[in-house]
Amino acid sequence: MSEQSNDPKIQELYERKAAARQGGGPERIARQHSKGRMTARERLELLLDKNSFREIDVFVTHTSDNPSLEKIPGDGVVTGYGTIHGRLVYVYSQDFTVFGGTVSWTHAMKICKVMDMAMKNGAPVIGLNDSGGARIQEGVHGLAGYAEIFYRNVMASGVVPQISIIMGPCAGGAVYSPALTDFVIMVKDTSHMFVTGPDVIKTVTHEDVTFEELGGAFVHASKSGVAHFVAENEEDALFLVQNMLEYIPSNNMDDAPFRGNQDDPLRQDLELDTIVPDNPNKPYDMKDVIRHIVDDGQFLEVHQHYAMNILVGFARLGGRSIGVVAQQPTVLAGVLDVEASQKAARFVRFCDAFNIPLVVFEDVPGFMPGLNQEHGGIIRHGAKLLYAFSEATVPKVTVIVRKAYGGAYCVMNPRHLGADLVLAWPSAEIAVMGPEGAVNVVYRRELAAAADPVARRAELVEEYRQRFANPYIAASAGFIDNVIAPHETRSRLINTLEMLQNKRASVPPKKHGNIPL
Ligand code: HXC
Repeated sequence: MSEQSNDPKIQELYERKAAARQGGGPERIARQHSKGRMTARERLELLLDKNSFREIDVFVTHTSDNPSLEKIPGDGVVTGYGTIHGRLVYVYSQDFTVFGGTVSWTHAMKICKVMDMAMKNGAPVIGLNDSGGARIQEGVHGLAGYAEIFYRNVMASGVVPQISIIMGPCAGGAVYSPALTDFVIMVKDTSHMFVTGPDVIKTVTHEDVTFEELGGAFVHASKSGVAHFVAENEEDALFLVQNMLEYIPSNNMDDAPFRGNQDDPLRQDLELDTIVPDNPNKPYDMKDVIRHIVDDGQFLEVHQHYAMNILVGFARLGGRSIGVVAQQPTVLAGVLDVEASQKAARFVRFCDAFNIPLVVFEDVPGFMPGLNQEHGGIIRHGAKLLYAFSEATVPKVTVIVRKAYGGAYCVMNPRHLGADLVLAWPSAEIAVMGPEGAVNVVYRRELAAAADPVARRAELVEEYRQRFANPYIAASAGFIDNVIAPHETRSRLINTLEMLQNKRASVPPKKHGNIPL
């Protein structure tokens, strides 16, 4: 509804604001809608609490002297602040109807202004991206603007949460700012991310690719790992941000919001006692384990389609936000490989930066063997996870559900890397390697000489299992703090997090470490 006033000065103000709200004009707005995409302002209205949005820099226009470029108030990006569930957030929302949401110097400066304000005032930055990249007509000024944004993304990293939603094409420089933020959400079918588009690729490498194959939501969620979430549509993407913020503090000095609930902290779930099959080679769904333990069975999975052999995500225990890292035995037996190590390491670092306690559910047969993995740098990438768990100073708790074999025992948050408490279920098997592998190595000669090698092998495997494949040797050494019945896990974890709520820990003073990137 347009505002009216009898005062000509106020009327002029209203008219100027109404013009700014038109963005690139009704035709381009209609084109945007016809592609199933909302306008920049419509998106903000859905994202933020009703009537909470306060826009800034409405009248900013570009400074280019290119006569072909019209001056459109706002210069293709709507910026400001508002609240989500009553908590302050800073936002920018690129307006594709204005020069394709492309980035000029002034467009970039508007984004930088809200980022600076967010840093000063300790609140998250949420970027709604819909942009053709650097505005070609601006030349180096657009590139300079991008670099200013990237610099602030890095300065803000670990200080305030940064969330990016990709809501249209994001080409060229438009992809790197999201890549520097904590979480990237893409919208199915209507969002794409690529450094160079299909036309350029065709010219340079002669490959024929579609937008979707190159940089669609599913490709980035499952293959490249650039996207942490895929939303069905724009509304879902905005709702996801609202939901995610419930688990995340506003800044690195704050705690995540406490949300009391009706789920009894002492609840004992007897189904947990039978969830792990007797046969150690049989898979089970670790998501069931997590859901049986956490408050109201709610688990917000991050990176759901990438490196599915490891699970990461947010949940609550006794109302407190936690970051969960867990193997998924239904995918590659939960083995640690290059992608899984990177995925988990990044999530661990996010939780550590933002004071979110880590809870690990471990069932890992080891690192993935093979040429691909070795040549792909499993040594370097696996080391990232070691590094991330070691440097994390938030409360860190591990539950060994089943296997903790070999190097993977060392990686998955054992006491030796600073875990505050390690619990094991009676089904835990803690050993240098699985029984079959161990028997092959240790009894190679004996097996070669045996009259019935198959029978002897079976005997030795069983012997080894009896001796080593249990939690009690580790418990007798004090490497595991306690062995508990699975149904006790929820109450034990809640109690542990309470015990750890005033944890103080620090790393030696340094400029920064050198994580094996
Ligand atoms: C100026 C641009 C533009 C750009 C799009 N437009 N990209 N204007 N600079 N980079 C304008 C179009 O002219 C058009 O204006 C409007 O935006 C909408 O674009 P369309 O092409 O009509 O829309 P669509 O068919 O949906 O295609 C969108 C698109 C395509 C996929 C983004 O426009 C595209 O491929 N653009 C180029 C993308 C790109 O290569 N960017 C890299 C820039 S270099 P009108 O007036 O008709 O509405 C870069 C380097 C930074 O970013 C490096 C930092 C590390």
